[in-house]
Amino acid sequence: MDKYRVAVLGATGLVGQKFVSLLSNHKMFEVAYLTASERSIGKLYSEAVSWLLPEEIPENVKDLKLISNQELLNLEDYDFAFTALPSDEAAIVEQKLLENGKVVVSNSSNWRMDPLIPLLNPEVNADHIFVLKKQKHGKGKIIKVPNCTSAILTLTLKPIYDAFGIKKVVVTTMQALSGAGIHGVPSMYIIDNLLPNIQGEEEKVENEPKKMLGTAGIEGIEPADFQIYPTTTRVPVLYGHTESVLVELANGGVTIDEVKAAMKRNSWNKINGLHLPTAPSEPIILRAEEDRPQPRLDRGAGNGMSVSVGRLRLDSSGKVLRYIVLGDNIVRGAAGTGVLIAELFVTLNERGEI
Ligand SMILES: NC(=O)c1ccc[n+]([C@@H]2O[C@H](COP(=O)([O-])OP(=O)(O)OC[C@H]3O[C@@H](n4cnc5c(N)ncnc54)[C@H](OP(=O)(O)O)[C@@H]3O)[C@@H](O)[C@H]2O)c1
Repeated sequence: MDKYRVAVLGATGLVGQKFVSLLSNHKMFEVAYLTASERSIGKLYSEAVSWLLPEEIPENVKDLKLISNQELLNLEDYDFAFTALPSDEAAIVEQKLLENGKVVVSNSSNWRMDPLIPLLNPEVNADHIFVLKKQKHGKGKIIKVPNCTSAILTLTLKPIYDAFGIKKVVVTTMQALSGAGIHGVPSMYIIDNLLPNIQGEEEKVENEPKKMLGTAGIEGIEPADFQIYPTTTRVPVLYGHTESVLVELANGGVTIDEVKAAMKRNSWNKINGLHLPTAPSEPIILRAEEDRPQPRLDRGAGNGMSVSVGRLRLDSSGKVLRYIVLGDNIVRGAAGTGVLIAELFVTLNERGEI
């Protein structure tokens, strides 16, 4: 099979590095172009990047020369653009990529709530991809990757929502430093400390999961009807967002075994059976131990694509469920889900379904 040629925009950043790592030895994709800011353009990728991943820089991208987004827009010989740019820059570039007819998989927050732009976490809402047929944002197509916290949270909310219905969610996050990008949070602010607010994050967590659990209708995606009350905090952990979740179910009388069975049942998993290379065999890993999940021990589960759930508790009425969920913010929360989305697009497109 011929591979699809792809560009990674913002390839020197934390999300960009993970995209490069996942795409450079992928059976469907071949990395053709890498972009970065003015600071880096003209340099070889291996010279410009401050590589922070445990795996080595892939040999086949080391000597690629970094180009500007503008130079990329003048090129035609690639199919997919994976964007890992700051949102203000992404908003400008993505519009032009669409005018050029590219398929854009974007990590930035611009346009995430547009009803005609799927906000995909494939196991949760792969069917939303069909709104692409109605999308008229240019000659190309654009799909958004959810915010990292929402991606991790929705993997657990989906089976609960399908099995029991949801009235209300209260979530408190403990988010890793890498969520703030490669320049992150200054050490004087965060070592021996916790920051009780992440600017702009709560609004995303309040809205994105409802869009993702919503339905694709005539006007595009209509959000699910329940409330989310988030508190988002930054903690001195490098990778892995932890979320303390309380869910008020639609009705009482639910048992803990029913909750576990719903999370383990694969029928909620919308891509089950498609055999996408980046899909983990178990999207949710249930931990029975009192002291799990923990970022250091559990963020690598399913190569970073699984979330780990522990401390499942139900109140005596069987209506209020509490648990801790943990996932890798760079993989499930960003680049891994981006690659999974592209695999889904390719698979359905080759079958003529989108
Ligand atoms: N980190 C996470 O966990 C996470 C999770 C989900 C979504 N996101 C989103 O993904 C995007 C990237 O995040 P990140 O954490 O990877 O950020 P990052 O580490 O700060 O990387 C930003 C990248 O964008 C490039 N860049 C910055 N300004 C540019 C400009 N004006 N023109 C062209 N390139 C420019 C940088 O290039 P230089 O190296 O040359 O400066 C770098 O490659 C953001 O929108 C973020 O909100 C991040």
